[in-house]
Order: sequence, then structure tokens, then C-alpha cells
Amino acid sequence: MPDLPQNTQSGDISPDLRIEASPTKEFFIFMITRDIDLTRAIADLVDNSVDGAKRLRGEGTYEGLSVRINLSSAEFKIADDCGGIAVDIARKYAFRFGRAKGMPNTPHSIGQFGVGMKRALFKIGNTFEVESSTEQSHFIVRENLEDWARRPEWDFSFKELQENVEQSSVGTKITVTDLFTGIAEEFALTNFETRLRSALAAAHQQSLSRGLHILVNGVPLTFSAASVLSSNQIVPVEKKMQLGANGDRVDVRILAGVGESDPPKAGWNVFCNGRLILDADKTRVTGWGDSNPHYHNEYARFRGFVFFDSDNAALLPWNTTKSAVDEDSPSYRGVRLEMIQIMAPIIRYLAQIAKEKKQQQNDDPTPSEIPLQKAQPTGIYNVKSADVFRAPVPRTEVARPSTERISYEKPKTEIQKLKTKLNVRTAKEVGEKTFDYYVRMEGE
Ligand SMILES: Nc1ncnc2c1ncn2[C@@H]1O[C@H](COP(=O)(O)OP(=O)(O)OP(=O)(O)O)[C@@H](O)[C@H]1O
Ligand SMILES: [Mg+2]
Repeated sequence: MPDLPQNTQSGDISPDLRIEASPTKEFFIFMITRDIDLTRAIADLVDNSVDGAKRLRGEGTYEGLSVRINLSSAEFKIADDCGGIAVDIARKYAFRFGRAKGMPNTPHSIGQFGVGMKRALFKIGNTFEVESSTEQSHFIVRENLEDWARRPEWDFSFKELQENVEQSSVGTKITVTDLFTGIAEEFALTNFETRLRSALAAAHQQSLSRGLHILVNGVPLTFSAASVLSSNQIVPVEKKMQLGANGDRVDVRILAGVGESDPPKAGWNVFCNGRLILDADKTRVTGWGDSNPHYHNEYARFRGFVFFDSDNAALLPWNTTKSAVDEDSPSYRGVRLEMIQIMAPIIRYLAQIAKEKKQQQNDDPTPSEIPLQKAQPTGIYNVKSADVFRAPVPRTEVARPSTERISYEKPKTEIQKLKTKLNVRTAKEVGEKTFDYYVRMEGE
């Protein structure tokens, strides 16, 4: 066999041995834009504005900050006044595909994977422009996707750049033109605007509640606070957990209870760093059908909320499109078991109502339902809660079955042996335990 040319000592591969394995840009563009819904891609751009607001305001209110989205069949535009992108961040990190080492961390951020902005730009159209100003800098990046796909290098370039020049306004403006045909058609539908508004209102409900203004084609999104029914008799369950330790800590809050009977709202809502990831989920992912029954409309009153919060977004159980939980994530697995336990008494209560309704055969409130009529919808951030769900069980359910006494005599030695075996002290207990044992083994 002839000798192969040797690799050089520096690790460079000799040209004869080199095998091309780098991704093609066409494949890359196809891959990253393929599995994301258009409304979610736009929500990703709003996420970046929210992270900007977080850097500006920390834990404070977002009042006075806004994100303005305008779309038509010709153009997509999103503009915010949430601090802008610093030139250094743009140069080294913001336009890279995937989060590069050394990227400064925004505590409690939604941004984590380093792909959202680019994926949205590539999804919507063929030409994009990102213009951003901080207090001291201004830049414009403009690119044509087809041209970029033809070039061998992956870099973009600044079309305008100013550093150390005071700017009158700060923020980021992204414009996409030359929209792809399917996207232009969707943007032209009024139904799309409605879908986008409700998707953004749901995904960013926490930011809206903190005062961020989000407008779509000039109309602000309205915020409706999630609530559960609460009274002295109906008390939602709440559990707080801390996973990990020190810098690697994830705080978890689970709240569950009942609301109005409304199937689209029923299920579990999962938030990561304030961003809604799962909306009214009714699947195995959130514990339905696993020790608990599968979802059915008799549970349309069920409401569950799980909040994962961490300074380190890498620890949160989300996928890159922020539209599902990563079921294999260690932080989610344990929490899911808690969710399964927490929902069991609520499901039993709702099943009891359904049973009473069937027996009653009319639409009057059933005995178990009456307390719900007196309960008030209360915001999930200030509701009085308990460590287990409380709802009154009707008297007929708690009444003990009628009983009858059994008495009999047996040899003392045998009773003594059974006391030891059953780990009890009295002959009465031996009688009860052996009776229970028989019932258990032979069926009732
Ligand atoms: N509107 C904006 N305001 C301020 N910074 C922004 C804005 N848009 C993008 N950036 C910067 O660009 C970076 C890259 O955004 P991109 O959405 O691609 O990734 P990411 O937010 O880091 O991660 P993820 O993929 O999870 O969203 C952000 O981390 C942020 O630094
Ligand atoms: Mg992002």
C-alpha cells in the first residue's frame, strides 16, 4: 500500500487527506428556520427586547419602554428602546450562530442559545437590516441572504459604525424586506395578526405585567392576569423548591387550583425566567395520564402554573424555540413528579363534581360545586395558598359507613404470636388487622 501524505506537526491536515465536512449555508438556513413557527420566531425578537429591558431596569418596572412591531406584505419591522446592542457585543457575539464563550451574562435572561435573532431574520425574508444605538455607539448591519449564502465566509459586516459618539436615542430597529412568498401571504392575513397578538400576549405576559408596552401595527397588547378561584373553602396549593446550589440555583414555584370551566385555559402553564414555554398543557409532559387520568373536559377547571427562575439561563428546562420543556432535563424531571402529586387531589375533586353532575342529571350546581360559586378569581401572584389543595368534600362523601361489632375468642398463645408478627399491642388490633388482611387478599 502506498504511503499516505503525513499530517503536519502543527495539526494542519495535508490537502490530500482533507475531507470537506463543513455545513453548507443553504442547509444551515433551511435547518434553523425549518422547525419554528412564524409567531414564535417573532416572539424570539421580542425576547431580545425584554432582555434589553432587564439589563436597563433589573428587577424594576418596564414602564416607559416599548416594543413596536409593524408588518405588512411588503415589510417586517420591530423597534424597541430597550438599551440597544453595544458594538463590541455585535462584533463578537450577537451575530454569531450559537452563544460563543465569553458572552457577558444577563442574569435571569431569556436569551440562552444564541440563535433567536438570526433564525427570525432568516425565516422572514431575503434582506435584513439591524440598526442599533447605545448611549455611545451606533451601527447598521445590512445583508442580503442570497448574497451571503453564495459567499464562502460566514461573517457579516457593519455598513455604518460610530463609536464613542453620544446618541440622542437608544434602542434597536430591525427591518426585513424582500419577504419570502409564504411569509408575505401570512402577514397579509388579518387572522395572522390576531394569532400573533395572542401568542405574544401569552408568551410575554410577565413582561406586560411589569409595564412593557408591546404594540402590533400600532395597537397595544392587552394584559390579562392569570387567576385561580380562592375563598376560605377553596384554597390553591403552592410549593416552592430550590434545585442546585449557589450560582447554579434554580428556584421553582408551583401553584395549582381551579378556575372557570374553560377547556382552552385548562392545564399546566410553564414559565422559564418569566417567559411562557408551555401554554395550558394537557399532555403527559406535564403529568396527565401518568398516575393521574388523561385530560378530559371534566377537568376544564384545572389551572396549574410552574415558574422556573435562574440567574443562569442554561439551567432552565426549555428547548431552543422556547416552546416546549426539555423532559430529560434534571431540573424538570423532579418537578414533574411534584406536579403529578399536586394535581391529584384537584383532579379527584373535579371528578367528584363530574360524578355528582351525572347523578343529578340537571345543570344546577352540585353539592361539591356550590363552594366554587362563592370563590373569587384571584391573581396568581398574591393568592392565599396552602401546601395541599383544599376544597370541601360533601357530607355524603365523608360519612363513615355503618359498622357492626365482631367479637370472638382465640387461644392466648396464638394471639401473642400474631401481636409480634403484626407489630401491635392489643388483641383488638390483632382482630382488626387480620380482618383487614382477609379483605385485602380475598377482595371485598
Ligand atoms: N433588541 C435587542 N436589544 C438588545 N440586544 C439585542 C437585541 N436583539 C439582539 N440583541 C443582542 O443580540 C444577541 C443575540 O440574540 P439572539 O436572539 O440571536 O441570541 P440570544 O438572545 O443570546 O439567545 P436565544 O437564541 O436563546 O434567543 C443577544 O444576546 C443580545 O445581546
Ligand atoms: Mg434571543
